[in-house]
Amino acid sequence: MANLHNTLTLCTLSLLLWSVAGAEPGHKFYRHMSPTSLRLHEEKLTHIRVYLHDILSGTNPSAVRIAQAESTSTSPSFFGQLVMVDDPLTDGPEPESQEVGRAQGVYGFADQGEIGLSVFFNFVFSQGEFNGSTLSVMGRNVVQAEVREMSIVGGSGAFRFARGYAQASSHTVDTSTGDAIVEYNLYVLYNDDSSASS
Ligand SMILES: *[C@@H]1O[C@H](CO)[C@@H](O)[C@H](O)[C@H]1NC(C)=O
Repeated sequence: MANLHNTLTLCTLSLLLWSVAGAEPGHKFYRHMSPTSLRLHEEKLTHIRVYLHDILSGTNPSAVRIAQAESTSTSPSFFGQLVMVDDPLTDGPEPESQEVGRAQGVYGFADQGEIGLSVFFNFVFSQGEFNGSTLSVMGRNVVQAEVREMSIVGGSGAFRFARGYAQASSHTVDTSTGDAIVEYNLYVLYNDDSSASS
């Protein structure tokens, strides 16, 4: 009887030690999952066309200069200047077109030779099945070029696991103010897991 008692005590003790050891380094902080559990096999391809309104002029600009280098004022390509934007995205090129989202983020003049932007935007959608979902766009934008291609590096909501590319082309540019309306064509592969568990 005493032996059985001792054995049980030992068992309890080792169980206790085991659970303490479980919290030690080496405890597994990840798990492998089946790609089908997030519906990764059901990838979708969508083409989105929106018009971005980058408005620097007026009392309520959507793009504001937030910083620049001392040398920016003497740079022909504005090298060193940073602009933060909350630009409307509409379904047509006219300013009064239906707003479907915003492009929020930063672009900087990153080229010493020509006007070449480094762009870091989150496209935040506010309409339809993409309401509340975002796409992260980054890349190089040489504004003089007819078509500028940037990367879609990720997304959230309906656009989880997104990747793809964005092509921008100027629709209207006011050379005196810098205001621009830019057509964006996004080609995005993503995995709509809205009916999956997590
Ligand atoms: C988009 O989602 C927000 C937050 O859920 C909601 O308030 C708004 O009405 C939705 N807009 C449309 C057009 O569905």
